[in-house]
Amino acid sequence: MLKIEQLELAYGSTPVLTDLSLQVQPGEVLGLIGPNGAGKSSLIRALSGVLAPRRGRISFNGQDLLAMPEAQRARLVSVVPQSTQLPPAFTVYECVALGRTPHLNWLGSLGAQDRAKIDWAMQVTESAALKNRRAGELSGGEQQRVLLARALAQDCPILLLDEPTAHLDLHHQVAILNVVRSLARERELAVLVALHDLNLASLFAQRLALLVNGRLQAEGTPAQVLTREALQQAYSVSTRILPNPETGQPWVVLQDK
Ligand SMILES: Nc1ncnc2c1ncn2[C@@H]1O[C@H](COP(=O)(O)OP(=O)(O)OP(=O)(O)O)[C@@H](O)[C@H]1O
Ligand SMILES: [Mg+2]
Repeated sequence: MLKIEQLELAYGSTPVLTDLSLQVQPGEVLGLIGPNGAGKSSLIRALSGVLAPRRGRISFNGQDLLAMPEAQRARLVSVVPQSTQLPPAFTVYECVALGRTPHLNWLGSLGAQDRAKIDWAMQVTESAALKNRRAGELSGGEQQRVLLARALAQDCPILLLDEPTAHLDLHHQVAILNVVRSLARERELAVLVALHDLNLASLFAQRLALLVNGRLQAEGTPAQVLTREALQQAYSVSTRILPNPETGQPWVVLQDK
């Protein structure tokens, strides 16, 4: 289990996250929602070891994630950061192969198992056809799929995704989130995914955490978190929450006033 306890984050003297405690179980997709600047990416940076917390603890199955050497953490946590870049001169295959780096021996060469994981990651993200293209020549959505493929090739029990569907068309939004949800279930991954689309979050995450101004405003099932009052308070918009006619999950409908 990924466990975040009383986490406090700051940039210099400016606090961004205050007293945050949250858990993600293996097999679970936790959707992280909240307005721009709420602290979602900062939390993901802290979980991936890029931003050192001012206070608090982050552990996985009892092991302190932040105290361990980076190479060990890279075998436990894979991340697709928000607005990151692939090395433009690399081919797609080379980019996805970078995901295997934490697992390679001292010779640094890819073995049959590494190649199988790279092929699998490209296949499930529908990026195999891009294999020989240069990363710098890809569209935004194609790059996003390759970034996810790289993270999946890393094959870690914790997967952190910061707005992974931001540049994707409808088909690929659904396809990618389906892949993420199935992987969480089948491989017992603990997945934390920041999403702006509340209806996608409602469909694909078992639990949601709503961050507002660096604080956890609500946490629970989509039905518990996606309430008219909470969304009014968080986003200053009027909504109606209806049952999705297909799934019964909460369906957020904007009101024009
Ligand atoms: N490197 C940085 N240095 C200083 N302040 C930062 C830095 N990165 C983010 N911040 C500030 O920290 C706060 C939280 O930012 P963060 O990127 O975590 O928000 P977010 O919830 O991911 O927002 P978005 O939905 O826009 O991606 C914001 O006020 C932002 O301006
Ligand atoms: Mg962000």
